[in-house]
Amino acid sequence: MWKMKRVAAVVALGWAAALSASAGEVEVLHYWTSGGEAKSVAELKKIMQAKGHTWRDFAVAGGGGDSAMTVLKSRVISGNPPSAAQTKGPAIQEWASEGVLANMDALAKAEKWDELLPKVVADVMKYKGAYVAAPVNVHRVNWMWGSADALKKAGVAAMPKTWDEFFAAADKLKAAGLVPVAHGGQNWQDFTTFESVVLGVGGPKFYQDALVKLDNTALTSDTMKKSLETFRRIKGYTDPGAPGRDWNLATAMLIQGKAGFQLMGDWAKGEFLAAGKQPGKDFLCAAAPGSANAFTFNVDSFILFKLKDAAAQKAQSDLASAIMSPAFQEVFNLNKGSIPVRAGMPMDKFDDCAKASAKDFVDTAKSGGLVPSAAHGMAIAPATEGAIKDAVSQFWNDDKITVADAMKKIAAAAKTK
Ligand code: GAL
Repeated sequence: MWKMKRVAAVVALGWAAALSASAGEVEVLHYWTSGGEAKSVAELKKIMQAKGHTWRDFAVAGGGGDSAMTVLKSRVISGNPPSAAQTKGPAIQEWASEGVLANMDALAKAEKWDELLPKVVADVMKYKGAYVAAPVNVHRVNWMWGSADALKKAGVAAMPKTWDEFFAAADKLKAAGLVPVAHGGQNWQDFTTFESVVLGVGGPKFYQDALVKLDNTALTSDTMKKSLETFRRIKGYTDPGAPGRDWNLATAMLIQGKAGFQLMGDWAKGEFLAAGKQPGKDFLCAAAPGSANAFTFNVDSFILFKLKDAAAQKAQSDLASAIMSPAFQEVFNLNKGSIPVRAGMPMDKFDDCAKASAKDFVDTAKSGGLVPSAAHGMAIAPATEGAIKDAVSQFWNDDKITVADAMKKIAAAAKTK
């Protein structure tokens, strides 16, 4: 017995020595600060700490990540990048072309990332054929959320499938003294609603032409006119408190039964879940009106910076490996509201909204309905996206701007290089 204890102690000492020899620090920049988001990122921290590494949290508040990107730029320019930063889409290529990202190919090859990721996702994570980023999830942006309490109070029997049904339901909510649409105040929230309207009004092909290819004919078409008219009409169903409100506080209005609907990606589900609410019972999920045959994808990922220190490099490689691990992909996405990006993951622990998302992701990839989210950095280079986002948001916020003028401004913004 005594001997066994001694052996155990020696083994434990050996482990501790092994851990400290390879233990490093990971500094991770992210913008996951709402209730559901913070719970999700805490899972990554736990995994890294269990591997013996030190997690240095670099959280920059602000949904959509605009503030986080500004802070990241100044850190990299001063020659002191974090180990990893939450960055996605074409912005990954921009960072890689600056020569500041690490080549993660040795790990990616050893772990067969090419086989585990859909090609559309893998391509975005690579620069000149080598992995420079690791993906965590697939968010669907074209969701609409419903508060079961509010809808019941207003006599709305089901989630609307078309924009006509939506406005009829919104009128009922208004008549019941409720806020029909919970909306917040940042420009990315306006753009999020706008892209779902464009998708619902024009369909996936039109969405591709207008918001991915930035085709001038599409951007100045009657369908765009109709999209802008529908978008403006929605504003009439928001409350005067919307300007300046964070997206998660808009979700809270549904949780409290004060508002009927929110047009928002499925990170909103993370808020409902963190508040102990159940899908199908307390809150409802449905594709944004008119967009059931489409899926706007938003893949969160971490870019990995070149580091000098060997222990920090090891910690960074362990971070990337943890991100792609089945254990993390499951627990993170259960909290975050998204679905795993890694192929072959069991979905049995996921709720019906996530199961619908997983099915629609596969189905729309075949039908042509799978499109990148413009409002969430998946479709267009950051400078162009920013210009379009501003034009869309100005139109939303200033009722004096006509639809015709907004259309011209958006088309001009799309030419920003
Ligand atoms: C998105 C991001 C999500 C979520 C949301 C609100 O752009 O992909 O993970 O955090 O912003 O901040």
